[in-house]
Amino acid sequence: MRILVTGGDGQLGTCLKIASENSPNKYIFTDADYIDITDKEAVDLGVGCNNFDIIVNCAAYTNVDRAEEQPEIAERINAEAAGFLAGAARKNGCTLIQISTDYVFGGNEGNTPRREDDSVKPTGVYGLSKLHGEQAIEKSGCKYLIIRTAWLYSEFGKNFVKTILELTATRPELKVVFDQVGSPTYARDLANAIVDIIDNHKYEGNEGIYHYSDEGVCSWYDFTQEIAHLAGNTSCHIEPCRSCEFPSAAVRPSYSVLDKAKFKRTFGISIPYWKTSLKACIKNLTES
Ligand SMILES: NC(=O)c1ccc[n+]([C@@H]2O[C@H](COP(=O)([O-])OP(=O)(O)OC[C@H]3O[C@@H](n4cnc5c(N)ncnc54)[C@H](OP(=O)(O)O)[C@@H]3O)[C@@H](O)[C@H]2O)c1
Repeated sequence: MRILVTGGDGQLGTCLKIASENSPNKYIFTDADYIDITDKEAVDLGVGCNNFDIIVNCAAYTNVDRAEEQPEIAERINAEAAGFLAGAARKNGCTLIQISTDYVFGGNEGNTPRREDDSVKPTGVYGLSKLHGEQAIEKSGCKYLIIRTAWLYSEFGKNFVKTILELTATRPELKVVFDQVGSPTYARDLANAIVDIIDNHKYEGNEGIYHYSDEGVCSWYDFTQEIAHLAGNTSCHIEPCRSCEFPSAAVRPSYSVLDKAKFKRTFGISIPYWKTSLKACIKNLTES
């Protein structure tokens, strides 16, 4: 099989490169220089001439706060371009695997893990643009899997774990919010799951929306404590605070936990506990 991965130089794209290293299938990674997904002609040509079986779309506008000032750009990349990929997938008989987000929910309703068919209500431009991307794919008539994930981190790119490692190593104290909870997700765990779904043909006959995060739940404060503890950064005092002390351009969901029962039932993949995966990531980061 031939698999196109867009956004191949991003955090998840890089993890997919590692996860697919020993695959019998041919994974081809592209960045915006090779296929700018907002360029319909480039997408049609790139997909149409290369005989792909599957497209994994990891390309996205991911700066949640900046998106509030750049709604047109966020919409073009996260929604319109997802529609271009879906159109090309339909025309060429490929399956599109789209990565989406917990931010399609938002709001503060309840504290029950979100199921795939729960009602969506994004509170910011980023979440809304990703939701529009999902809707464009659903409308397109292509075969698709939409995987919503949350709180991604890894050794690659800019992410919360790398920022906290730096801050707790260099500052005497740090305030972190404890009123937003979710599930930290090692991007390499998600990448391994995606490769398993592709290489073992588990996507066949299983179209639809799925939720994936690592197991367990914590606040950003708990996450920070664990990062500092695992890295041995014990001299920084970490203080819990409320989100109102750190106003940001985008409103973030206070309860961002995804229910993964459908994912586990459908694909038979067991999901690691967040602390176990965090330990592996920090070991890689501190040893490199
Ligand atoms: N990070 C998280 O916490 C998180 C949480 C939930 C869901 N997600 C979703 O997970 C997916 C992967 O996220 P990530 O953390 O890997 O993001 P990332 O590191 O920001 O990677 C996104 C990639 O997309 C590329 N890109 C942007 N515009 C493009 C275009 N027009 N054409 C082609 N490529 C383009 C970027 O290239 P440049 O760097 O050159 O712009 C970058 O390499 C995204 O769909 C995101 O919405 C992420």
